[in-house]
Amino acid sequence: MLLPILAFPDPRLNIVAKPVVEVDQRIQKLIADMLETMYDAKGIGLAATQVNVHERLVVIDVSDTRDQPLVLINPEITWYSPEKHVGEEGCLSVPEIYDKVERSVAVKVSYLDAKGKPQQLEADDMLAVCIQHELDHLLGKVFVEYLSKLKFNRIKTKMLKIQREEEKDAQYEKMSRPKL
Ligand code: NI
Repeated sequence: MLLPILAFPDPRLNIVAKPVVEVDQRIQKLIADMLETMYDAKGIGLAATQVNVHERLVVIDVSDTRDQPLVLINPEITWYSPEKHVGEEGCLSVPEIYDKVERSVAVKVSYLDAKGKPQQLEADDMLAVCIQHELDHLLGKVFVEYLSKLKFNRIKTKMLKIQREEEKDAQYEKMSRPKL
């Protein structure tokens, strides 16, 4: 089932997620729905926060073939490489906005997999950036918060304007629909 993705600056994107208590059927369903939503939106990562579920769960797939899903439950970054890199980032919650963010080149992360089994992973390059970006979402942080105040406000204004126009279009459509 496709889930609606919250759009910045929706304040629900700033809610801090709580740990998943049990990897049960509800979580399995959420994982399946989040993967479907991420693939449909052509994203490489999606945090539960973005679909308005405030629990520590993210799905990622940085493969070109789009068939290497990675599920991180209760993920914690246990090590950041001192070496950093500035790269261009985007986000499904901030459509069409891309900007430079500095991140560690590599990270180590401990987490539970989709079966609830404890795992560890050392990631670098795109996967390391993606993990840092998605885990920020679980802390209620969107990548645009790393940008200058000026850029941040500009993006916020632009997004609000788009959202207002979308709302207007939706209202107009409702009004012009023939009532039979
Ligand atoms: Ni994002």
